[in-house]
Amino acid sequence: KHALNIVKMKKMKQDGIPLAMITAYDYPSAQLAEEAEADMLLVGDSLGNVVLGYDSTIPVTLDDMVYHTRSVARGAQNTFIVADMPFMTYHGSIDETLRNVRRLMQEGHAQAVKMEGGAEIAMAVQAIVQAGVPVLGHIGLTPQSVNQIGGYRVQGKDAKDARRLLEDAKALERAGAFGVVLELVTEEVATAITKELSIPTIGIGAGRGCDGQVLVYHDVLKYTPEYREKRFVKTYADIGTQIRKGISEYVKEVKGRAFPAQEHVFAAEEGVLDNLYG
Ligand code: KIV
Ligand code: NA
Repeated sequence: KHALNIVKMKKMKQDGIPLAMITAYDYPSAQLAEEAEADMLLVGDSLGNVVLGYDSTIPVTLDDMVYHTRSVARGAQNTFIVADMPFMTYHGSIDETLRNVRRLMQEGHAQAVKMEGGAEIAMAVQAIVQAGVPVLGHIGLTPQSVNQIGGYRVQGKDAKDARRLLEDAKALERAGAFGVVLELVTEEVATAITKELSIPTIGIGAGRGCDGQVLVYHDVLKYTPEYREKRFVKTYADIGTQIRKGISEYVKEVKGRAFPAQEHVFAAEEGVLDNLYG
C-alpha cells in the first residue's frame, strides 16, 4: 500500500537518494503533499504552533495528535505517515508509553512515531520497536524541552556538544530507531552523524549533509499569519497572501452586492410565486 517503508529508506541512504519529508496536519494538506510526491509525512506537534495557535508544542495533547493524524491518514493513504508523540507521553512507565503509541497507530492510523531525546529515551524506543512500531528519533533542538534548553538555539557548536549529539544518535540507532531527525544542528556535526549511522538522518536546519530534509508545511508555503523569516527555511510559495487576497475580495463583493451574481443562483419554475400567499 505505501510507496515507502523503513527498509526502502535505509536502502535509499545507501544509494544516496535524498528523502523529502514535510509536515501535514489535516486532510487537504496531506492530500496535496501526497500528490506532490513527498516521501513521508510528519504529523508534527508543531501543529500546536501553526494550527492551534499555542506559542510552543508543550500544550499539544495525545488527543490532538490522534485527531490530526487520523485526518492526515485519510488524505494520504499511500504515503508513509509519522506521528509525533507529544509532550510527556513517553516518559512514564513502558506500559503507559505503549498505550499512547497504540492510540497513534490504531486510532490515528500512523505508520510510525517520532520522539524527542537521545540516550535517556533509548529504553522507551526499544520497547516500542519491540512492539513492532517503527520509531523516528529526534535530537538537536528538541522543542518539547524548550524550557530546559532556554530558547530555540542552534545545537552542536562546540566539541562537547558534538560528542553528546553523536552519542545520542548512536544510542537511538542501537535502540532500533529507523531514522533520526536532526533539528537546528551545525552542518559539520550533522554531516559527521550522518556518516556514522547506518540509518537515515533527516535534517531541519541541519545543513546539506543529511540523508533527507523535513520542513514545516506552513513555512514552505508561507501559510501563517505571524510568519517569521528563519534562516533554515526556504519559502516556495506565498499562500498566506493569496488567501488573504481571496477572502478580502469575497468580503468586498458581498458588501458591494457583486456576489452572488446571476451565474451563482438557482431559478424556479415560472409562476412559482403566483399562489404563494394563498
Ligand atoms: O513537529 C514538527 O514539525 C517537527 C519537525 C520540525 C521535525 O518535529
Ligand atoms: Na515535533
